[in-house]
Amino acid sequence: MREFVDLGAWRAARQALSGTVGFVPTMGALHRGHAALIERCRAECDHVVLSIYVNPTQFNNPQDLEHYPRTLATDLALARELGVDCVVMPDYAQLYPDGFRYRVEETDFSTILCGAHRPGHFTGVLTVVMKLLNLVQPTRAYFGEKDYQQFLLIRDMCAAFFLDVTIVPCPTVREPDGLALSSRNTLLDAASRARAPEFARALRAPDADAAVVQRLEDAGFDVDYVETRFGRRFGAVVMHGPARDVRLIDNVPAAAEGVPAP
Ligand code: PAJ
Repeated sequence: MREFVDLGAWRAARQALSGTVGFVPTMGALHRGHAALIERCRAECDHVVLSIYVNPTQFNNPQDLEHYPRTLATDLALARELGVDCVVMPDYAQLYPDGFRYRVEETDFSTILCGAHRPGHFTGVLTVVMKLLNLVQPTRAYFGEKDYQQFLLIRDMCAAFFLDVTIVPCPTVREPDGLALSSRNTLLDAASRARAPEFARALRAPDADAAVVQRLEDAGFDVDYVETRFGRRFGAVVMHGPARDVRLIDNVPAAAEGVPAP
């Protein structure tokens, strides 16, 4: 496995690759959800490129950025084990030579759901993903359905800007108790972790969105939103712990509001 912190070296190496290139962009703190993306990529592409970069421009909350888990040594060991060929780990100065003066902004779908609660978040995501796609020039890029709004925005951005890449959605990987895997789960205190699976359970309930909000609030969650759109029910909650607050997001298939998918 080759590791690149220097983007000049990476770009030279990229030019030398032939065959299909698969790309899995991440912010590190890798878990089985990331591993599932990497495994699919490994099965479908000649070369597997992983990026690890905690992108500051997508964090609207400075505390969230500060506490975001960073586990580089174990990430690299897992990547090696999963057969990753190249890991790209740039820093801010290299990835943002423009100082974030240039941005990719979506003006419609990015303003609802998580966009309504995290100002600027999706502009940061779309901008960094555009930069990474240009640097990696993948044949296929893999994204988790866990972040379904992110997946839709990236897929449509690639179509809007005629990027020659296939965006591949991958199913959400969950803990046995139903909690969607997330790098932020490691920040939950024991009591919050024990209560967290109720979030996924409530999203699957055959009730109207408003009733699901009530059920979650009764269970002690601070609810950002529960909304059914495009055949999915989306939710975001904040869990308040003694040390810090942790925001969880999830989404599940839904035939219509209050009607779980068959
Ligand atoms: P990160 O949260 O590290 O996630 C990287 C990829 O893993 C995303 O496509 C995400 O949807 C996927 N993923 C996370 N948890 C998952 C789970 N439980 N099951 C399946 N897939 C899962 O998403 C980001 O990073 C960033 O916004 C990024 C796209 C890298 C841009 O900075």
